[in-house]
Amino acid sequence: MDYNFDKIIDRRNTDSIKYDFALRRGKPDGILPLWVADMDFQAPPAVIDALTDKSLHGIFGYSENREDYIEVLQNWFASQFDWHIEPNWLVKTPSVVYAICTAIRALTNKGDAVLIQQPVYYPFAESVLINERMLVINELVYSNGRYFIDFEDFENKIKQNNVKLFILCSPHNPVGRVWTQDELIRMGDICTKHGVIVVSDEIHADFIYENHIHSVFANLKPEFSDITVTCTAPTKTFNLAALQISNIFIENRAIRHKFKKEVSKSGYSQLNIMGITACKAAYSNGLEWLMALRTYLVGNLEFARTFLSEKLPQIKLVEPEGTYLIWLDFKELGLSEAQLEDLIVNKAKLWLDAGEMFGAGGAGFQRINIACPRSILEQAFIQLEEAVSQL
Ligand SMILES: Cc1ncc(COP(=O)(O)O)c(C=O)c1O
Repeated sequence: MDYNFDKIIDRRNTDSIKYDFALRRGKPDGILPLWVADMDFQAPPAVIDALTDKSLHGIFGYSENREDYIEVLQNWFASQFDWHIEPNWLVKTPSVVYAICTAIRALTNKGDAVLIQQPVYYPFAESVLINERMLVINELVYSNGRYFIDFEDFENKIKQNNVKLFILCSPHNPVGRVWTQDELIRMGDICTKHGVIVVSDEIHADFIYENHIHSVFANLKPEFSDITVTCTAPTKTFNLAALQISNIFIENRAIRHKFKKEVSKSGYSQLNIMGITACKAAYSNGLEWLMALRTYLVGNLEFARTFLSEKLPQIKLVEPEGTYLIWLDFKELGLSEAQLEDLIVNKAKLWLDAGEMFGAGGAGFQRINIACPRSILEQAFIQLEEAVSQL
């Protein structure tokens, strides 16, 4: 089947947070948005068909997943990642960020230390702080255009602060790393040694570029599975974020029990039926679409890489190994954060995510979401080039 990812679908006036709320979010109206991590593509036809059928049925009463839902998940994770999950490991939540906040409350006490690796997806820090835990940062090291883990600092921070929980971003948003097995095992061994529970956010696992392999952290060693809350969702992969569905896997009974209790405490029980329907359809019948999408994204990445090297060589692409988000290094322009923001927002008229949001080490960077029709991406880069040429 042919999928037309070049087609521009007008998302304005659809209640999209990407397109409809610039003013409310402090940006000028009419700005070109390439920020939040959803895509400007329609979901796979199989998902749209399943949702249409459900919608036409017209009854939206309390719903729960049946056995076949678990089988679909088992097939997906076995076929994509060679990870074999047991049905009772599953806890469904409306989103990964909800699951992260739940894990923080369920598995740590107020004031306990929680470790993250900045620059990282900003709700990690927000989730720790809003739940009144202590934020501990193992800063990623940027060297020769790539990010690395400082393992010595990682272990020292755990020991010095008596860290109880580590939130791993794998693959990593925004720096685009797909952690190698060696890196994951080194982190896992340190966490096992010091009794640190790991929340492994693997929401971007379906977008991995050539020559890289995503390893499910919990799948690397039985002792890792015993300390891990693995957060997955079909929502990034198939563009379903507003349907609010995430599948959390926890093998350890005691951890799972605490996590489930915390979900109950928040008053959450059955899922949104549209989320269940879309998830099942996507994982059962969405793979061909996903493969076509991956090819398209490789083309978008190639476009961005070529444009930058030919027309904006001062701006460096941090080569992504996974995700549809690219992390650009603007430091050679020598601008302050305010000047960089002015360049992007007021001169280039682009709405990106400023690097500092992801942590202090993100200063001088911007994150761009490339999951859009190529012509939109081209337009964005042209606007950026014009703005830079006027500096
Ligand atoms: C690493 C990471 N985790 C979680 C999310 C959000 O997931 P959810 O909408 O399920 O909370 C995102 C979205 O960008 C993300 O990049």
